Amino acid sequence: MSTLPPQLQSSIEVRTKTTVLTLQAKRDRGEPITMLTAYDYPTARMVDEAGVDAILVGDSLAMVVLGHPNTLSVTMDEMVHHARAVHRGARNTLLIGDMPFMSYQAAIVDAVRNAGRFVQEAGMDAVKLEGGRLFADTARAIVRASIPVQGHIGLTPQSVNVLGGYRVQGRTAEAAAALVDDALALEDAGCFSIVLESVPAPVAAHITRRVRIPTIGIGAGVETSGQVLVTHDLLGLFDDFKPKFVKRYAELRREADNALREFIADVHAGAFPEAVHTYPMPEAELAAFERRMGNGPAERTDRTDPARRSV
Ligand code: KIV
Repeated sequence: MSTLPPQLQSSIEVRTKTTVLTLQAKRDRGEPITMLTAYDYPTARMVDEAGVDAILVGDSLAMVVLGHPNTLSVTMDEMVHHARAVHRGARNTLLIGDMPFMSYQAAIVDAVRNAGRFVQEAGMDAVKLEGGRLFADTARAIVRASIPVQGHIGLTPQSVNVLGGYRVQGRTAEAAAALVDDALALEDAGCFSIVLESVPAPVAAHITRRVRIPTIGIGAGVETSGQVLVTHDLLGLFDDFKPKFVKRYAELRREADNALREFIADVHAGAFPEAVHTYPMPEAELAAFERRMGNGPAERTDRTDPARRSV
């Protein structure tokens, strides 16, 4: 029963925190799930308040925020640092920390400890890791430690050097069948959901019908339980390159360019700051100040420090 006065009940949207069960329920009802990335406080606030179901603190931050050429060099410490900021900005959304390269590949014990860091140090609700059957036991161990795991198969960017580039996966009957086996293994390991990246739409649709957990597609067509995009791609903030599956909903980089150039031009023209951006002083205080400094009003226009002025 709501404790809000009736006049507010219809005008305030009361959202409750999304959990892995919320995603499962949406998938069961056939309601599409939305997931977006965030790496900092302001983006987390925007994405959370827009109403997405899940925020992924993706290792894509290596490229779109830290400027690395791929995702391989971002560290666990860097991921935790960003995840903490996201946690401070998001209130309603399921928060998923992306396990970076070498945080889970070498040993299962590392995987469980690092997944635990996302929960304990950064307030994440779940973690994501790349890999199918090969990492099913790792996923199972993390789930056993009471940390929900999202799988990620298809194009797994941390394997770029093995895959020989960022290529669509599952294009042959054999490769597609292998992806189905990967998905089933992750479901069996207890994953609460699986990201399907860059796989042909019919393969993603088949996997989505075969598993009972939500599938979240990126470059996987429309017949998945939900969709994820990198927020910097969607907003047009990252324009080093644009994968085929990205739809730009805004061109913020272009907007920012215009704003930054306008600022520079305004400063050069003396058009900024205007009176509205400037702090006034009571006239009597100003007169007293000028008397004390020994200057008549408007006598001094040179703004440089007298000590540094050349004589
Ligand atoms: O790191 C990331 O942003 C991801 C998404 C593309 C799924 O893994």
